[in-house]
Amino acid sequence: MNIIFLGPPGAGKGTQAQKICDALNIPQISTGDILRRAMKEGTETGKKAKSFIDAGQLVPDEVIIDIVKERLAMDDCKQGYILDGFPRTVPQAEALDTFATIDSVIELDVKDEELVNRLSGRRVCVKCGATYHISMLNGKITCDKCGEELIQRNDDKAETVLNRLKVYHDQTAPLIGYYEGKGLLKKIDGAQGMDNTTRAILDALGAKA
Ligand code: AP5
Ligand code: MG
Repeated sequence: MNIIFLGPPGAGKGTQAQKICDALNIPQISTGDILRRAMKEGTETGKKAKSFIDAGQLVPDEVIIDIVKERLAMDDCKQGYILDGFPRTVPQAEALDTFATIDSVIELDVKDEELVNRLSGRRVCVKCGATYHISMLNGKITCDKCGEELIQRNDDKAETVLNRLKVYHDQTAPLIGYYEGKGLLKKIDGAQGMDNTTRAILDALGAKA
């Protein structure tokens, strides 16, 4: 099954994609993670992306489309995948249509006030990328999965978060209508607890955990 996770920053795309990928045994393709890795490694792509990401803006379409096209051509994508954070503009969605067939689009719906709270409290593992919220950490500063340090993402600073939300509403939300028009969109309440959200997504996909 080829699946897109659509939703504003902080909606839970990464958190849920990890769980659903484990359940379905397919890879999670997070363009945000790919770009952050490229920045850390100092590659040409990473250098191009840095100023956009730090400002909460989208990286130009031509940079990201080629990355996704190459990634989807890899062997581990043959049984399906979840795209987490791509497409994010109508031109990206139109490009995707030329090299992939999408079966389902899961839209995670969460109100802006809750998103700001989630992002300002998010902590991520420097090594494996696992995501936590400070409210669940009880003061812990290391990752449950690999023991490494947890940090705050650079773009989770308050002013950048507001900019990312604006960019989502202006440039990415039009994709809701795009995929509704194709009969692929499944809207999920992303403000229920983590496990309820996972169940609702699996139900919408007609899959079992
Ligand atoms: P990216 O990394 O994709 O960031 P994003 O879309 O802004 O989304 P987030 O990762 O912030 O949120 P999420 O929905 O994954 O939420 P999470 O599960 O972590 O992109 C970063 C940047 O890269 C972009 O700004 C852009 O510059 C660039 N980029 C990436 N893709 C691009 C593209 N296609 N085109 C152009 N540029 C691109 O959860 C958030 C928090 O909430 C966590 O703390 C979590 O523990 C908590 N939480 C999750 N679910 C629940 C729940 N049900 N209840 C309570 N808390 C919850
Ligand atoms: Mg994410």
